[in-house]
Amino acid sequence: MGSQTLEADQFADLGVVDTASWLVPQWRGRGVGREMRAAVLHLAFAELGAVAAVTSAWHDNHASLGVSRSLGYLDNGYELHARGDRADRMERLILTVDRWRDLADLATVDIAGLRPCLPLFGLSG
Ligand SMILES: CC(C)(COP(=O)(O)OP(=O)(O)OC[C@H]1O[C@@H](n2cnc3c(N)ncnc32)[C@H](O)[C@@H]1OP(=O)(O)O)[C@@H](O)C(=O)NCCC(=O)NCCS
Repeated sequence: MGSQTLEADQFADLGVVDTASWLVPQWRGRGVGREMRAAVLHLAFAELGAVAAVTSAWHDNHASLGVSRSLGYLDNGYELHARGDRADRMERLILTVDRWRDLADLATVDIAGLRPCLPLFGLSG
């Protein structure tokens, strides 16, 4: 169907994760993007101890921005990036753990078998 990445730099020190999502066209607009982002946010916040999740999308990527906003991310400024032969606006968004806890439906995600993998995230098992 697609992929959902969760990545971080110096996660053990900073606790900030970044996400990127992609679905094959026939699976877009059916709620899957929101569901898979909610899943990795649960992994990051409830299991890995993240303090914030950030993401970014072109200003006109309404599906990507829609996923983020529907999960409670707030606007966090923008950057100008090269897009073709011009500069265009990349929106930045952020969701803190406190806001996630207030908004997330915690019962909808169930994570199993994580403990042996924690060292791979730079965390103790
Ligand atoms: C971005 C992507 C992963 C989103 O997943 P999706 O399954 O299409 O999105 P969902 O159906 O889960 O929609 C999530 C929210 O965004 C809204 N949304 C989705 N598509 C939208 C669109 N084209 N315009 C406006 N809002 C849209 C939905 O209404 C929903 O909001 P709600 O929960 O408040 O109702 C998917 O569209 C995709 O793979 N796009 C191409 C790759 C890409 O752009 N990746 C992101 C790069 S930053």
